[in-house]
Amino acid sequence: MAIPVIIDTDPGIDDAIAIALACASPEIDLLGITTVGGNTGIENTTGNALKLLHLFGRDDVPVGAGAARALAFEADLGDPTIHGQGGLGGVELAVPERGSDPRGALGLLVDLVESHPEPITLIAIGPLTNVALFAATRPDLYAKLDRLVIMGGGVHITGNHTPTGEFNIWFDPEAAARVFSAGVDVTMVGLDVTHKAMFAGTDWAPLRGADAGAVGTAIAGMVDFYGSFYMSQNGSDATAQHDSLAVAAVVKPELVTTQHCWVGVETAGTLTRGMTVADLKDVWKQTPNTHVALDVDVPAFIELLVGRIADLDARLR
Ligand code: BDR
Ligand code: CA
Repeated sequence: MAIPVIIDTDPGIDDAIAIALACASPEIDLLGITTVGGNTGIENTTGNALKLLHLFGRDDVPVGAGAARALAFEADLGDPTIHGQGGLGGVELAVPERGSDPRGALGLLVDLVESHPEPITLIAIGPLTNVALFAATRPDLYAKLDRLVIMGGGVHITGNHTPTGEFNIWFDPEAAARVFSAGVDVTMVGLDVTHKAMFAGTDWAPLRGADAGAVGTAIAGMVDFYGSFYMSQNGSDATAQHDSLAVAAVVKPELVTTQHCWVGVETAGTLTRGMTVADLKDVWKQTPNTHVALDVDVPAFIELLVGRIADLDARLR
């Protein structure tokens, strides 16, 4: 039986690729998408989610617009040199006729979790603002989630936006702190694993070429933009596919090796705000709340992600 999933996201190029993987994977029953401000503004992230679902043949999946900004401070939105002005690296996609769901992100989360017969897996690949608001407003329904899989944070590699802050956690640390302590089992796919699994430009070859369809062409265009940012930083076009690894960890859990321990979020430190603190040695004897991903099967992840998107491209061609 496919796993019922809701994705909370801020597309964003790697979010777009993660949504493609979810749409391409029979292991996942995608029930809805909720959007949050992060990589770009909420109008862009919501519009991008609608356009991406249209591209992937999934106009049936409702999109609820959520929080524009963080709970407690005005974090700057993502750098447009990473994801482009509109969030998808300048790749133009067809605009579907439908709009976002009138219930918004919270209403959609409430209705889907309340009405679905099975506990739902929530995959959160943006700042955790919507998730924290859901946990705060409807703790009864939040507790019905099967689990929460997030892309965020890091243990040995703690930061990409600041020296110790990974972007999603840094953007809304108060929300993240609430989510880690809200009682639902968390799987944390952070920088320790996403920085291990770098995709070379040539890894995307199956999506390119004369017989590539609309999906392959669009994703390859986004990867090229994202790769040019990496090239400017690292001298290599190899990109981290952060958000797809969170989806992949649901599709094929054996791809990541995890350690179960307590994780909290620093909200007060002047240098370390937004840092995830993992008690890997159980020094504080707290009840473990998180499965922290510490290792990843890189070749298997690359094969899964590129292969599944190539299959989706062929299916929709
Ligand atoms: C995370 O931040 C965003 O830029 C990406 O979409 C990803 O979710 C990586 O730190
Ligand atoms: Ca994201």
